[in-house]
Formats: sequence, C-alpha cells, structure tokens
Amino acid sequence: MAAPRPLVAGNWKMNGLKASLGELEAIRDAVKAGGAGRAEAALCPPFTLVAAVAAAAEGSPLAIGAQDCHAKVSGAHTGDISAQMLKDSGATYVITGHSERRADHGETDAIVRAKAAAAIKAGLTAIVCVGETKDERVGGKALDVVSGQIEGSLDPDFPATNLVVAYEPVWAIGTGLTPTAADVAEMHAHIRAKLEKTYGRKGVDIRILYGGSVKPENAAELMGVKNVDGALVGGASLKAKDFMGIAGVYK
Ligand code: PGA
Repeated sequence: MAAPRPLVAGNWKMNGLKASLGELEAIRDAVKAGGAGRAEAALCPPFTLVAAVAAAAEGSPLAIGAQDCHAKVSGAHTGDISAQMLKDSGATYVITGHSERRADHGETDAIVRAKAAAAIKAGLTAIVCVGETKDERVGGKALDVVSGQIEGSLDPDFPATNLVVAYEPVWAIGTGLTPTAADVAEMHAHIRAKLEKTYGRKGVDIRILYGGSVKPENAAELMGVKNVDGALVGGASLKAKDFMGIAGVYK
C-alpha cells in the first residue's frame, strides 16, 4: 500500500513580524523550485501574518496554516479567531491541541476535539497534536497517554482526508532532545493502529507527523522511520535554509 504524501509543516509559534516575510518568500521560492521533492510544504505563521503570508504564497505549492482556532464560528469571544476567519484569510491548515496550548491555556482533549471539528467544518485540515511528558515517558506511560489523547481529541466522524496527527513528545519540543528512532517507530505504529481502528481503511492514509527538535541534521533519520509521514517543525522553520534542509529529505 502506498504511503501518504508526506507533509512538512513549519510552526512559527509566537515569532514573526512583517520583516519575516523575506524568509517566507525564500521558502516559497525553494518549494516552487522543487526543494520539498514529493512532500507538501506548509507554514503556520502567527495570526497577524496569515493573510500576508497566504497572499505571498498564492499560486505557489506552499500551503498556509494557523496555530489555533476557536471552536465556534463567530460570536462574543473577544480576542479569538474562528476557523472560518482563517479560511477566509487563505489558510488551508490549522494546528489544534499543540502541547503549548494544552499547557498555557488549559486546553483539554474535549476542547481540542471541538476545535478540530470546527476547523474541518470550515473546510480546513486539522493538524491535531498529541504527545507525552518526560515523566510519562520515564514512567512507561507514553503509549497509554497518547492513546487517551487520540481517543479524546479525535471524533470517529471526522473525515480522514481532513485530518493530520502530529506526535510531539513534550520533552522533545525546543530542547534539542529527540526520541530514538525505535521509540518513534513504536509510537507511530501505535498511532497508526489506533487510526485504522477508528477510521478503517482510511486510517492508513492519515498523515502522522513527528515533531520535536527536528533539524536538517536529524531529519533524514526521523523521516525515514516507518509510519512517519513528515514533520511539524518549530524553531528550524524560522530560517528558510533550515526548513528546506528538512523538507529536502523528500527530494
Ligand atoms: P521545535 O518545536 O521544532 O522547536 O522543537 C516543534 C513544535 O512545537 O511544533
């Protein structure tokens, strides 16, 4: 069975001003020139840049996403952004349930699931993040924790075509630490089995990204692991050279 088309998505987090559009243009041009090979490339800038980045990427193969959305379409939710607004701004992806949002904003699996549902309803593809903490990994609970997050954050009624899952061990994010290839293989096989159980045959085609300290130096090894269908890249997505060094493993 053919593996799904890989996705390499950059998460700029709370970084990026108008001056950063130069990096975006460099990424766009490199992707246009075939630098991501058979992979799809996407960038998720902060909300303030989504429209500008989407305009700059228009007509190119670079996809644009955002880093969060509200579960409601509109209404009295001061400071929030709906999935429909993101779609209107040119986004096609949105990250939901990133561990920083789960930690900083108390987002539960139920909230993440409602946000992903809103994203899908608006016509976006949701990149739903899961991953264990260091204590959970050391305590031998990583597989169970991620199982619980998947069950809680994904609705069996979600269309598999609008769903991406990102496995991001919390302790690997921004730390320079990464799990061993064997641990990544074990976790991704575990997630794949759960997706197939939930979505049947369509679960085979749901992309499972690895995220957490992905760099050009470790990308080939991590992306070469079975059931790893791309990467969610934080720090290294801020520089075109580093991002393309990661996406370039699919050339
Ligand atoms: P990192 O972040 O690549 O900087 O570790 C990954 C993420 O949080 O998506």
